[in-house]
Amino acid sequence: MLEVLNHPLITHKLTLMRKKETGTKDFRESLDEIAELMAYEVCRELPTKPVEIETPIAKCVGQELSKEVVIVPILRAGIGLLDGIRRLVPTAKVGFIGLFRDEETLQPHEYFAKFPKNLEDSVVMIVDPMLATGGSAVAAIDMVKKRGAKDIKMVCLVGVPEGVKAIQDAHPDVDIYLAAMDEKLNEIGYIVPGLGDAGDRIFGTK
Ligand code: PRP
Ligand code: URA
Repeated sequence: MLEVLNHPLITHKLTLMRKKETGTKDFRESLDEIAELMAYEVCRELPTKPVEIETPIAKCVGQELSKEVVIVPILRAGIGLLDGIRRLVPTAKVGFIGLFRDEETLQPHEYFAKFPKNLEDSVVMIVDPMLATGGSAVAAIDMVKKRGAKDIKMVCLVGVPEGVKAIQDAHPDVDIYLAAMDEKLNEIGYIVPGLGDAGDRIFGTK
């Protein structure tokens, strides 16, 4: 399943992020706000179970979330999406995957992994602003599957068809959510028009 959210509020904030003159503070704040808006949509399909409760007036059957949510940002840039999603799902646990993309080969290299227990019974949301070749996303999904995760959502801000295809070919069971689908990759693997290097713009490096 691929869902491109294309929401006017998200598109407005993403346009600010795309502008080359936007500085670190506005870039980070817009990403944080978009993360919260995306989380609302991504959580629409979370499973619930009936629960008997008593209001001040009467007994009734309500619904509560039936699975734990684990948010897994891909370091570094995925960190920019974490707080916004946690505001909507404050009970979520958090895992971390450290991957960097080799600038020459565009292959992902793993340098860190730390996960909460019980990934197999949780909804695992892997988050990263950029889905370019898809190499990092596919590697991250491999890593959580190796630890038992079965219900996996890949949440990215900007993607391209190449990256979506890479995930769908390797992991057809994973739901993909994008704020926007861009045109293509350029010759050095950057998204066009994209927003440049997300990690550098979030953290002010380079
Ligand atoms: C960026 C981005 C993704 C990856 C996407 O991270 O945040 O993780 O590239 O590219 P791909 O789809 O071709 O794998 P980068 O490796 O630059 O690391 P950073 O977040 O530390 O800057
Ligand atoms: N990673 C980024 O940060 N930006 C791109 O356009 C592609 C990969």
